[in-house]
Amino acid sequence: HEELSELLGSRVRDIPDHPKPGIVFKDITPLLADPAAFAALTEALAATAGRLGATKVVGLEARGFILGAPVALAAGVGFVPVRKAGKLPGATLSQTYDLEYGSAEIEIHAEDLTAEDRVLIVDDVLATGGTAEAAIGLVRRTPARLVGLAVLMELGFLPGGARVREALGEVPYQALLTV
Ligand code: PRP
Ligand code: MG
Repeated sequence: HEELSELLGSRVRDIPDHPKPGIVFKDITPLLADPAAFAALTEALAATAGRLGATKVVGLEARGFILGAPVALAAGVGFVPVRKAGKLPGATLSQTYDLEYGSAEIEIHAEDLTAEDRVLIVDDVLATGGTAEAAIGLVRRTPARLVGLAVLMELGFLPGGARVREALGEVPYQALLTV
């Protein structure tokens, strides 16, 4: 397990002052470009999906799609996108959440999750936890059961971990890395 986090951590690149001065951006593109690291990440998250008995992986646009889709395939379950507002053509459920400045809105196709489904939410980074918390709220408004939230990395200097644990209650939360 320590080996896995070392491998994954070594493939995440710090980009200082992106997208604005004072912010250190965590760039996962070196990890995605390394087939061994990408496979190890996918296998770890697919194992989580299996352990939790997930029947659907919900990935959060955009970077949660890159991780979530191969995880769903590896776990042998379906993939359901949570998209930024206005992108999904069918009947949607939507959830707004606060950003540092202003607000954002995400949506899911209401019919994609049924009462038989067990959902694992997947994203790349947990920062403030706002995106994940909104996705938790969205999935909970469907008939499906939320069984977990898994991210590649949590920014440990922000209170996002505590925030999502509070929102999740008994539902498990996994961050493969804390940076
Ligand atoms: C990023 C990241 C997470 C989210 C974490 O997404 O991919 O989804 O921010 O931040 P939070 O915990 O403070 O909500 P973003 O929407 O910036 O970009 P993306 O479309 O590239 O995923
Ligand atoms: Mg994102």
